[in-house]
Amino acid sequence: MCGIVGYTGTQDAAPILLNGLKKLEYRGYDSAGIAVVNDNNISISKVTGRISNLCEKTNDGQLLPGNLGIGHTRWVTHGAPTDTNAHPHTSNDGKFAVVHNGIIENYMELREELIDNGYHFESQTDTEVVVHLIEMYYTGDFKLAVMKASERLQGSYALGIVCADEPERIFVVREASPLILGVGIGSNYFASDVTALVAYTKNIIYLEDGEFAEITADNIQIYDCAGKPIEKRTNRITWDIQAAERGGYEHFMLKEIMEQPRAIEATMSPRLQNGEVHLDDLDLSDDYLKSINKIVITACGSAYYAGCSGKNTIEKLCKIPVQVELASELRYNEPLIDEHTLLIVLSQSGETADTIAAMKECQSLGAKTLAIVNVVGSTIAKLADYTLYTWAGPEIAVATTKGYTTQLIVMYLFAIYAAKKLEKISASEYKELIEELKSLPKLIQQVLDMNPSIPELAKKYHSSDSMFFIGRNTDYAVALEAALKMKEISYIHAESYAAGELKHGTIALIEEHCPVIALCCNEKMTEKTMNNIVEVKARGAEVLAVTFKENTKMASLADDMIMIPKVNVLLGAPVEIVPLQLLAYYVAKENNCDIDKPKNLAKSVTVE
Ligand code: AGP
Repeated sequence: MCGIVGYTGTQDAAPILLNGLKKLEYRGYDSAGIAVVNDNNISISKVTGRISNLCEKTNDGQLLPGNLGIGHTRWVTHGAPTDTNAHPHTSNDGKFAVVHNGIIENYMELREELIDNGYHFESQTDTEVVVHLIEMYYTGDFKLAVMKASERLQGSYALGIVCADEPERIFVVREASPLILGVGIGSNYFASDVTALVAYTKNIIYLEDGEFAEITADNIQIYDCAGKPIEKRTNRITWDIQAAERGGYEHFMLKEIMEQPRAIEATMSPRLQNGEVHLDDLDLSDDYLKSINKIVITACGSAYYAGCSGKNTIEKLCKIPVQVELASELRYNEPLIDEHTLLIVLSQSGETADTIAAMKECQSLGAKTLAIVNVVGSTIAKLADYTLYTWAGPEIAVATTKGYTTQLIVMYLFAIYAAKKLEKISASEYKELIEELKSLPKLIQQVLDMNPSIPELAKKYHSSDSMFFIGRNTDYAVALEAALKMKEISYIHAESYAAGELKHGTIALIEEHCPVIALCCNEKMTEKTMNNIVEVKARGAEVLAVTFKENTKMASLADDMIMIPKVNVLLGAPVEIVPLQLLAYYVAKENNCDIDKPKNLAKSVTVE
């Protein structure tokens, strides 16, 4: 996944492009570049590595004067991270420059055709075919050349295109990759997402797949795929750039961990009125709900692990079988899905390629889809039959925290709402569940306030080569997410195991001082999990237990403990995960890792 940005207006473009790219760097950061049009010339600067290298090379953009330009920050898909492979890519005649987010799936055949037509390629990227196609089709009409080139492309692409002969115009094209337009006064913008623009304008237009736009300083004209002008609504962004800034925290990840009580409050409160759960415009009829014989939850990464926790709650309250499927598997395994299946799609970004593909596969089989996403107007939000947003605000750190916990909250709201409509819970159970849900922000704040003990624990465990996260039932689902958090930001090999599985092989790996993080917050399972702790202790493990403060027996068993408030196990995951998010954060900090931008990762994986 990459980030693209563009500007035209009364100001110098380069500094605006660089600022925008800094905000998009979480989308990919192995190389970057900008192109600025000035006096019918295109000036280009490209670097490998971070945006800061580009700022240095261009003297913060001063070396590229001009008030129209495009920029790109890259996450490698085709071709190593080199200056040559960095975007923007230029045509052989130097008249065009293009930035691209996505994958051109038919680029090899186009590359051969273009080479046969005498075009010379400099890079190994798929993107470069776009700029040569535009040159090939250009006979003086910029818009027509863009349309003809786009018609040849297969795959996913958000494109920004400039032309030296047309120093007043930028063309952008959207197909299966996010692209938004920023409407200013005497200036206009485009970007992969809002965080790149919100410092300049809060008036945003979301392009849809198949649409393209012509951007000048004073106007934005949008066209459908046939080139017919269309009108689109301008949306007003409600949060400001501070919300997307670090707010005084050393890392976005810590800020977003600390924001969770507020993010959960913002997600929940509008949907809890007068003691009832109101789910926006989710008009699921009682008849439809009764017709559901299976719920499938699909997602990737942490969203999948959120689904593993949500499954327990939805199944136990609604008495409907729930299966959780990795989207990258579901899309290919010919699932047994029909009109009686409700597909719940979880995604923070709303742009994850595997999740989109799995969703389309299930829709083609007749399933209704409920999307639980954080990014307004994202592809998954638009594709779904129903959408419930997690109002977590922008999540910048690659490792999700508030995105994950707010997904849990929305699943809990859905479970309580549906169970009541299906008459699977009594009025008193309904009331009690709502009260317990409302207490979660306060309980999470309590866990955050006990924060001082966790950095000390991190000092003890940060040099481990591997870690095991064990738990049973609801604890196991949280252990899955806890292990991923540790892996993706501290690079320590961490595995999660159903505690009952240890004796079936894994315990062979437990040796002297091997850290085992035991999640023990499910009262029904406490004794069993504590037996597992005895087993690993007998083999030399160092055990850090996460348990509720009433579990006094743990003190005589575990080497270290993190106490959390006792919560209804069906609603407890957002509380239980918080200390483990913090543990991963402080371990990574001890190891001097790049916490907000871990190596090899991107915030949203918009390619397969
Ligand atoms: C989570 O910390 C990871 N960054 C990753 O697993 C992420 O959850 C996954 O790529 C899904 O992303 P999405 O929620 O935006 O679809």
